[in-house]
Amino acid sequence: MSLTAEKISPLPTHIAIVPDGNGRWAEKRGLPRLNGHREGVLNMLRMIQYINEYPIKYVTFYGFSTENRNRPEPEVKGLFKLVEHFVDEQLGKIHEKNIKIRHIGRMSGLPESLQNAITKAVSLTANNTGMNLGIAWNYGGRAEIVDAINKWAADPNRPQTLDEKSFASYLYTGDMPEVDLLIRTAEKRLSNFLLWQSAYSEIYFTDVLWPDFDKAEIDKALTEYSKRNRRFGGL
Ligand code: IPE
Ligand code: MG
Repeated sequence: MSLTAEKISPLPTHIAIVPDGNGRWAEKRGLPRLNGHREGVLNMLRMIQYINEYPIKYVTFYGFSTENRNRPEPEVKGLFKLVEHFVDEQLGKIHEKNIKIRHIGRMSGLPESLQNAITKAVSLTANNTGMNLGIAWNYGGRAEIVDAINKWAADPNRPQTLDEKSFASYLYTGDMPEVDLLIRTAEKRLSNFLLWQSAYSEIYFTDVLWPDFDKAEIDKALTEYSKRNRRFGGL
């Protein structure tokens, strides 16, 4: 465990991260947007390794939203390629660290090669017992709620009436705990991320662009979280 980790308390059980600002990071340097995405993916890997030093059980990244599909074709294709390449190159290292990868989102609509890469990552790490790494890929919070209702309707063993707990079990996140801390870089909005699961999460916004968001920035967010007074609607 890192020295800082021992000092920050309480730590969140589940952190959700919306890594934004890759495009601006590249544009500021006169580089193509895809260079920013490459830096963003590399930084994601660095942050996964760093957060893994903390006793934090769940980290979920917003990788690609259902709405990101509306971007120009070359950017979308480039992003898909980047992720496939990333899985190819890094999956072994993630598996070695006993990290369990979970896909949070819609599989349908993704290119077949990317679906295969995701399936491979999820099945290889399925029995790992360390940190849970959620990758929200082709994810939308409203789509998730609609999908959950349809899943319930199609479930032959469905309960007649739903309560919050049984409803949540039909979400992509299934048995994962709710989000304690949601971090967003470069913007101040939720953008349809984990709407149900973030109902009572503490939100941390920063103007730092994702490729520049480093260990010191994570520690800043965690330290601020440790000082928040969570009341969940109580007093
Ligand atoms: C976030 O960076 C990455 C994805 C949405 C895939 P952006 O591409 O949104 O970067 P900006 O907002 O244009 O700077
Ligand atoms: Mg953006």
